[in-house]
Amino acid sequence: MPSRLADWDKRHLWHPFTQQTEWARRDPLIIRSAEGVWLKDARGRRFLDGVSSLWVNVFGHRKKELDRAVRHQLAKIAHGTFLGLTHEPAIRLAKRLIEIAPPSLSRVFYSDNGSTAVEVALKMAYQYWNLRARKSKTRFVSLKGGYHGDTLGSVSVGGIDLFHARFRDLLFKGWQVEPPRCHSRPPHDKAGRNPETLDPRFRGGDGMEKILKRHHNQIAAVVMEPLIQGASGMRLMPRGYLAHVARLCKRYGVLLIADEVATGFGRTGTMFAVEQEKVRPDFLCVAKSLTGGYLPLAATLATEKIYRSFLGRYDEFKAFFHGHTYTANPLACAVALANLDLYRKEDLLGNVRARTSQLAAGLAPLAYHSHVKEVRQLGLMAGIELVNEKAAGRSYPPGARMGLKVCDAALKRGVWLRPLGDVVVLMPPLAISEKETTFLLDAVAGAVEEATR
Ligand SMILES: Cc1ncc(COP(=O)(O)O)c(C=O)c1O
Repeated sequence: MPSRLADWDKRHLWHPFTQQTEWARRDPLIIRSAEGVWLKDARGRRFLDGVSSLWVNVFGHRKKELDRAVRHQLAKIAHGTFLGLTHEPAIRLAKRLIEIAPPSLSRVFYSDNGSTAVEVALKMAYQYWNLRARKSKTRFVSLKGGYHGDTLGSVSVGGIDLFHARFRDLLFKGWQVEPPRCHSRPPHDKAGRNPETLDPRFRGGDGMEKILKRHHNQIAAVVMEPLIQGASGMRLMPRGYLAHVARLCKRYGVLLIADEVATGFGRTGTMFAVEQEKVRPDFLCVAKSLTGGYLPLAATLATEKIYRSFLGRYDEFKAFFHGHTYTANPLACAVALANLDLYRKEDLLGNVRARTSQLAAGLAPLAYHSHVKEVRQLGLMAGIELVNEKAAGRSYPPGARMGLKVCDAALKRGVWLRPLGDVVVLMPPLAISEKETTFLLDAVAGAVEEATR
């Protein structure tokens, strides 16, 4: 049966972010079931889910409380529209999100995925200024290396040429700023606080300041991933940069959209990454881990000030004309609520902190490997950047597929990973145990050694 399924897959499917020629040559991993951090394939092999099923899984697969929440909701209603109706799981979840979000935020707008969460924030920011008769404020500032999803609005503020440059003619124009980079950020304390020391490299006169100073009358918002750019290879920004951008936004009357699709819900050690620099954004975009990796659901959180500007008589047509058919799906909202309940009950953030230290200690020796350029980590997000010639800083040619080779070698050792080019990404489920983390680290070290030999 697995070989027949593989044939059908190759004949009928088109996978995301995949060169299908390469896919057709390979033996696809057909996942049949999972338990905890372990995926099981159709041949009965077990693999540790080293990237949390694309950065979404929190408590592992088949978590009984989450399974139960879906079943419980299924016995009531699987889906009902949110256009003209409402329901209890969505209401309770909105209340919960506002309780845990930064204090500036008071309104929740649901959608289905990270791209739409950002798309919604962009449109809301645009309409906000439009409604306030500041019609020139139509542009966005984003960061080079940023990733916000694959719909055209999110692509317009994306900063990864490989993904975005081809579509340039379809995109709206804005400004992009090169953020400062660093190798690591010192850990925050237990309350998630960091002293706000500004990195000297961008103190005074950085690219962001120049753009905002000169063009603020045309700028609706700055959109950025806080602290770390995930999809461009776990690239870290130095401590203080986010707070610095937030201050500039305030000074120049520009809104701040924090895209926490990847970092939200504990991934970086605090519930939201913005907490680490005490930043209160105007919009917070969340998705991925919101449902513990069970069902697609996203939310764009906004301030009361933004929300109020959309109010008026029907025939003023100030309403936000945007929505998706499966917005606020009740099954997804119910499992998200159960997921967030477990954070406190199981002290998930405590585990993230312990595993973060373990991961850092375990990955430290890899930084000295002759084919590792850099190891970057924040919380349970890590990237190991491979390099062909370390001293000269020369990369492998893209066709060498070195990132993929390391992941193939990890697979032989019982770990499933998906690279970003030549960056090997580690994003384990947040509830991963000490023993499982050791297994992951051993497999990765062995895989890097084998593939680069
Ligand atoms: C920061 C960030 N924003 C947005 C997205 C897009 O999310 P989705 O794939 O759910 O559309 C991603 C996905 O990786 C992301 O990392």
